[in-house]
Amino acid sequence: MERFEAFCGRIQRMIADEKTMSRKIENGRELVSELLSRQDWFFEYLKKMILEPSSFESRRPGIWPNEYTLYRSPERSFVVLAYIWDAKLADIIHDHGSWGIIGTLCGKLGERKYERTDDGKREGCAELRETGHGVCGPGETTFVRPLNKGIHAMDNPTDGIAASINVYGKTIRQGYIQFFDPEKKTVTRVFPPRTLREVLAVKTLAAIDPSRAEGVLREALGATRPPQLMQEYEAALLKLRS
Ligand SMILES: [Fe+2]
Repeated sequence: MERFEAFCGRIQRMIADEKTMSRKIENGRELVSELLSRQDWFFEYLKKMILEPSSFESRRPGIWPNEYTLYRSPERSFVVLAYIWDAKLADIIHDHGSWGIIGTLCGKLGERKYERTDDGKREGCAELRETGHGVCGPGETTFVRPLNKGIHAMDNPTDGIAASINVYGKTIRQGYIQFFDPEKKTVTRVFPPRTLREVLAVKTLAAIDPSRAEGVLREALGATRPPQLMQEYEAALLKLRS
C-alpha cells in the first residue's frame, strides 16, 4: 500500500498548492492516472478486506452499496473511494457535494453527463438535458464539478467486473446527494444510511402522534444538528402546522 499512501500525500500537497478547482481537477486527473498504471496496491487492499474483515467493520456506510472508503484526509480536504461495478451495474443520475475525479482501475465504465435546464425553484422538480457520453477504459479518468455542474450517471456496460478509484474534494454541500429522474422530471434528496434512519424517524413520529411530535421536533431543533437534518426537521414542523 506504499504506492497508495504516496498517492494520498501527492493529492494532499497538490490540493494545498493549487488555488482553482480547474487546476485541482486537472492535476488530480494526472495523479489518478498515474496511480491506476498499477493495480497491485488495490489487490492488497481487497486481500486485507477478505482476510481481515474486522479491520473494516467501523467504516461508515455511504449512500452507494458498492462504495469502499480507502482514505479520508484528516483535515477533510479530500477523500479517496473505490467503487466496484458488477456486470451491467448502472447508477442513478445524481449530483455531488464536491468536485470529483473518477478513474477506471479495471474494466470499462460508461458515463452520461447532464445539465439542468429548469430554474431549480420548484421543490422536487428538475429538468435535465444530456450533454455528452463517453467510456473510460483502464487508466482513463473523467471528472465532475459540484452540484448542478456535475450531474451524471455511470455504468459498467460490460459482462465483466469493473472498478474505479474516485477522489472527491472538500464538500460544499454536506450530508446528501440528489437523484434525478429526467422522464418524471423529479429530483430527490438521498441520505447515507445513518442520516436516513433519523430522517425516516422524524417523518414517522409525525405520522403516529402529530401533537407530541411537534415538541420532540422543537427540542431536536434546539440542539446542534447537521444542516441537512435541520432542513428535514423544519420541513416536518411546517407540514405539521399545515
Ligand atoms: Fe458520481
